[in-house]
Amino acid sequence: MKYINKNLSIEKVKVQDISKKFGTPTYCYSYGQLKKNIDDFKKNFSSFAPLICFAIKSNTNVNLIREIRKFGLGADVVSIGELMMALKAGIDPKKIVFSGVGKTTDEINYAIDKKILLINAESKSEIIEIERIARSKKKIVNIGIRLNPNTDAKTLKQISTGKKENKFGVDEKTFFALVNYSKLSKNISLKCLSVHIGSQILDYKPYEKMLKVVDKIIKKSNHKFKFIDLGGGMGISYEKNNKKLNYQKYNIAIKKFLRNHKSKIIFEPGRSIVGNIGSLISKVIYIKENGKKDFIILDAAMNDLMRPALYGANHRTLPAIKTNQTSKKIYEFVGPICESTDKFTTLKKFQKLKEKDLVVMCDVGAYGMSLSSNYNVRPKPSEILIKGSKMNVIKKRQKLKDLI
Ligand code: LLP
Repeated sequence: MKYINKNLSIEKVKVQDISKKFGTPTYCYSYGQLKKNIDDFKKNFSSFAPLICFAIKSNTNVNLIREIRKFGLGADVVSIGELMMALKAGIDPKKIVFSGVGKTTDEINYAIDKKILLINAESKSEIIEIERIARSKKKIVNIGIRLNPNTDAKTLKQISTGKKENKFGVDEKTFFALVNYSKLSKNISLKCLSVHIGSQILDYKPYEKMLKVVDKIIKKSNHKFKFIDLGGGMGISYEKNNKKLNYQKYNIAIKKFLRNHKSKIIFEPGRSIVGNIGSLISKVIYIKENGKKDFIILDAAMNDLMRPALYGANHRTLPAIKTNQTSKKIYEFVGPICESTDKFTTLKKFQKLKEKDLVVMCDVGAYGMSLSSNYNVRPKPSEILIKGSKMNVIKKRQKLKDLI
């Protein structure tokens, strides 16, 4: 995304033209950036050629997932709906892993019938349920066990998953008991150890620590795991001067780990694949003066982009057309919803705005549209995929008649 003759453009398309054609609010994704992210991800870990299972929860647009599948990626799913979506996008079931703490009987049934690569179980009760269903179908089902490595991911508390107090995975002691239980079962085959310590991780050290724990536990468990699923969590730069995750260091740590373990590595990245490919285009409805601060009331709201309200997340915000006038006021960008957390960002010295101007929120490709809702009976935005100078609608804007 860059300014071409003062016009903010996604690849070769002006934001203004997207808005004219499709209205606002609208999510736009850059195909070029998607390709670059996947190429970079593969390159970063090329020496051990991992299976990359895209975390569907980060972006559930079936047409976008189809593009991701064309690069050879599999999927990490956490519900029957996500599993159906991955299959609809043409992802090979042998590249699908199923995570989550509360898989229901229906979900396990469906996953077994679709012959997916792995069901990553997160409790003893779940393993017993998988075993019961597998037995009734006279099948042997490949499973993983998710370990809770009690490792601090050094990220936001709300998106940390690898500490003892988090509901995810099982502790060391339970892990060993479940390995032994699985070994004796006729209907489950233990193929994988999985971990996922959190999201938006920018420091490689938690990953290093996690690998040390995994190494120790595998040695102690005396079981040969065909797969080690290291989850996702790789962070991206939301701010210009954010630090970047050192992939090289993470890669070195994994290579060291693999010297002792001849397993295939699986990753479940979401944000690092789609986070920076997405932008949300929105229009200023009104500007309301409030002393030193102006409320910039947008037509996008927390139902369209939940991350600021939910995590206090900040998304870079840019004007669609650059002028050289700077506002003397502080701008608080808000949505029209009746909640005080319906607020995106507060900025000083932003370009002077007027009503009907367009603004763009950046890096919303992950957990943007997928976390959206119909709160306040607001139809969900359209989604557009940009490739060079082409614009393709990959999801139409919801219509009020679909909701009412
Ligand atoms: N694997 C598992 C088991 C997960 O729980 C997650 C994310 C991922 C993979 C993908 O993580 P990623 O590579 O995208 O960091 N809504 C929050 C993020 C929640 C992440 C939940 N789990 C946000 O907007 O920041």
